[in-house]
Amino acid sequence: MPSPTFFVRDVPVYGDTILSPMAAYSDVPFRAICRRFGAAMHYTEFVPTEALLHDPNPLWRRLDIHPDGENPMVFQIFGHDAQQILQAAQRIETWGPTIIDINLGCSVPKISEKGAGVGMMRQPKLVAETFRLLSKHLSVPVTGKLRLGWDESSQNYLEIAKIMVDNGATLLALHGRTRSQKYRGQADWEAIARLKQAVSVPVLGNGDVRTAADIDQLKAHTGCDGVMIGRAALGNPWLFARQDREQLTFRQVTAVLRHHLHEALAYYGPTDGLQNMNRHLKKYLSGLALKPFLRAFQTTETVPAFQELLDEMETAVSAHLPIAELRKTPFFPLPTKRNIT
Ligand SMILES: Cc1cc2nc3c(=O)[nH]c(=O)nc-3n(C[C@H](O)[C@H](O)[C@H](O)COP(=O)(O)O)c2cc1C
Repeated sequence: MPSPTFFVRDVPVYGDTILSPMAAYSDVPFRAICRRFGAAMHYTEFVPTEALLHDPNPLWRRLDIHPDGENPMVFQIFGHDAQQILQAAQRIETWGPTIIDINLGCSVPKISEKGAGVGMMRQPKLVAETFRLLSKHLSVPVTGKLRLGWDESSQNYLEIAKIMVDNGATLLALHGRTRSQKYRGQADWEAIARLKQAVSVPVLGNGDVRTAADIDQLKAHTGCDGVMIGRAALGNPWLFARQDREQLTFRQVTAVLRHHLHEALAYYGPTDGLQNMNRHLKKYLSGLALKPFLRAFQTTETVPAFQELLDEMETAVSAHLPIAELRKTPFFPLPTKRNIT
């Protein structure tokens, strides 16, 4: 049995690459694919505490766990009222998470300007109260994901991180940008290094990890315990196995795509499963001249037709070539019969 890479309180984590929480993407099927390639810990998409308490609402599905189990499974929630966050956390704790995480990073105005997400970072007392209550009343570990601060002139991540840890947070994930940066500019890896120096709990570094080499560079640069990967994992779960998509052949990509389709159909059923898959297809096929195929997938309504189109796409593309080579091809035409009908 390998030894754990780090612990979140008493929960062992085996591995150092972690899938980011990503609304509309990090669902049960995608997490299953990332796990297969070695993602060591899984976050749900974030869920508003208000919806958890008041709404018989489909957002609850975001907290489903794969029937094969997911461990450690992190449920991520956000809110702007400590008591309400506690009530929601107590409710979802019975649904089987290994860890509950509070989002202090969301920059979307309708969330952050209400004082939730990164808006919490402007309210140190709310942060203290939330983590104090949760760590006192929950039996699972409580963690938090934060940004550098509200804007360039108020980068208070070290102060907020200390408050989180002093009040019971057992792991911190830092996205090295401020709210005002959103996703612009470059993530500040120096800040991640400073945070790692400043706190006693494990730190996940996050922001702009795009290649296998970036994973090791971020670790070496910051000393962080794990690397959290978001956008670059979309259509590219190989990153968790420290493999770059550019080196893979098209057939290796489509094999995973088919597995992902299988997971999506099993979880969502045919109609929603195909819709969900179309969102991920764009990522799997990005950078390749396959727009006519993507359009055809979007209008395909049955699973057999979708699978047939996958077969046709493999035939149209030189499936044995690496993605880096295929990028040079300007246009892959749809089979003629599809152009006619
Ligand atoms: C489509 C999308 C959805 C996201 N949803 C969440 C979320 O639900 N919770 C959260 O903490 N961060 C969310 N994020 C932020 C990511 O977890 C991550 O912090 C950010 O993308 C930076 O990492 P990256 O450079 O590896 O993408 C989201 C990001 C994207 C692109």
